[in-house]
Amino acid sequence: MTAKAAFPLGLLLVAPFHPKFIAEDSCLSNYFYGTYHDVHTPGYSIFNVPDQECYDVWDAYFPRNTPFVEVPEGDNQLVWLHQDFVEERLLEGSTGITDSFLDSLLSSDLPAPLDQEVFTPSQPSSSPMILHQSPTSLLISIPPFQARTIDTLLPPFWKSALLPREPIPYRAVSPSAIEPVKKVLKNLKFDPVVASIVNNISIPQMCNDIRFLTGEDGRSGIVSRHSFTPGAVIAAKWLKARFENSGAECHYKPFLQGFVPNVVCRYSAINPTNDTIIISGHYDSRGSFGSTRAPGADDDGSGVTGVLAIARTIARKGVRFTNANVELVAFAGEEQGLLGSKAYAKELRAANASVILMIQADMTAYRAPGEPMQLGLPERIGTPEVTQLVWNISEIYSPELHLGLTPVCCSDHQSFIEQGYPVTQLFERVGRIADPMYHNSHDLSEREGYDFDQMYAIAKVQFAAVLHTAGYELE
Ligand SMILES: *[C@@H]1O[C@H](CO)[C@@H](O)[C@H](O)[C@H]1NC(C)=O
Ligand SMILES: *[C@@H]1O[C@H](CO)[C@@H](O)[C@H](O)[C@H]1NC(C)=O
Ligand SMILES: *[C@@H]1O[C@H](CO)[C@@H](O)[C@H](O)[C@H]1NC(C)=O
Ligand SMILES: *[C@@H]1O[C@H](CO)[C@@H](O)[C@H](O)[C@H]1NC(C)=O
Ligand SMILES: [Zn+2]
Repeated sequence: MTAKAAFPLGLLLVAPFHPKFIAEDSCLSNYFYGTYHDVHTPGYSIFNVPDQECYDVWDAYFPRNTPFVEVPEGDNQLVWLHQDFVEERLLEGSTGITDSFLDSLLSSDLPAPLDQEVFTPSQPSSSPMILHQSPTSLLISIPPFQARTIDTLLPPFWKSALLPREPIPYRAVSPSAIEPVKKVLKNLKFDPVVASIVNNISIPQMCNDIRFLTGEDGRSGIVSRHSFTPGAVIAAKWLKARFENSGAECHYKPFLQGFVPNVVCRYSAINPTNDTIIISGHYDSRGSFGSTRAPGADDDGSGVTGVLAIARTIARKGVRFTNANVELVAFAGEEQGLLGSKAYAKELRAANASVILMIQADMTAYRAPGEPMQLGLPERIGTPEVTQLVWNISEIYSPELHLGLTPVCCSDHQSFIEQGYPVTQLFERVGRIADPMYHNSHDLSEREGYDFDQMYAIAKVQFAAVLHTAGYELE
């Protein structure tokens, strides 16, 4: 096999992550294209193989199975597809990726995606191709206009992620980046003022807010918050205005043509500092195949509503942060492969921003009937010290939550850990996704299992972590 010289993307290595790939003497270390998920294989890493010499080194390293794939020339977009980490019972009766889906993909006669008019389809310069395939993941090469909307065509429990156009310099989270969190963890103890602040989060207000975001209140006019829809524009404007009312300074951060922007809001610390804490959720959503409705009450109306509830409480209680700036972020483009957060994390890294903690809340409301209230923390994509901090904070301020780990992995915090920032994720369950309305047009707040008490308990944990890490005063 000969490696084509011309990058982008002549030859790829697609293999489970190994530290040797990114060791200093590795010819791959500057050609990282990200980590991608597969239910049965932890963390596929993708690298471009820059030249023949590098290919020879790694070809010798993999004597039997060759994890190399050749990429056709042209401006096609590479997209990773994978089955999500859902309970087996949800998969019953679901078709998964069928041969006919693949056939239509390859013959490029996929049905037109929803809301496609925002894109002018360019001429595909090469045919769609499957580059890598396992029973629960695929790497495909397709025309860019199809790639951006492929999430609307996928079976319910499959996700898509667009590969970046350029390599992402691989960055481990440095020991010094974790110092602030370690310090907080070391001195952590119950603070009655923190308890009185976080307990002030209002459940009736969260109930109203989520009904606006899903359109259940019949007044917002939101039918969908898919990243290209008018509903997502309404949600962005509304979120920005609500955050501003709470005293934050807000900006839209557009990241890609056709997508609604990230909404980034900030409270500056009383003592000037560059240290910043980010708490976030994603306000875009995804519905059932063929339906224009995507209310996303759980995914991720719950996480965004939690962050908004924190902002409302900051205003109500007159909280001011002392030693770190605090940003509240509502990301977009998550369902297309963390696109909004990747752009923002990259921008922060380029500006040498000092993000000392990032906590993403994605799906916090669903509790399967008969199960206790839970908080699932990441088994894989997360900084262990941050996960430990959140664990201990949960024991202190939300002891009603049953704690444990989850394989559910790949929300917007992944974009930040890839840029070397300390992160964790808050999820509604210990174990896999059990919400039967996941990526479904019936993901509403008025239904069995949608639990405001759990959502409240998890928002308290996110808020208490910020108060302990940033330091605070009350007006
Ligand atoms: C965090 O909680 C664990 C388990 O409850 C405990 O063993 C540990 O000492 C706590 N760590 C700190 C720093 O408080
Ligand atoms: C929150 O605190 C405010 C004022 O401190 C109080 O009026 C309000 O009732 C409290 N709300 C909740 C839900 O505790
Ligand atoms: C923040 O960073 C900038 C640029 O690195 C630096 O000039 C400035 O002094 C820093 N501010 C504080 C308060 O540390
Ligand atoms: C980046 O920030 C660190 C501290 O956060 C500082 O030591 C370093 O000088 C900065 N580098 C640049 C290029 O601004
Ligand atoms: Zn989500």
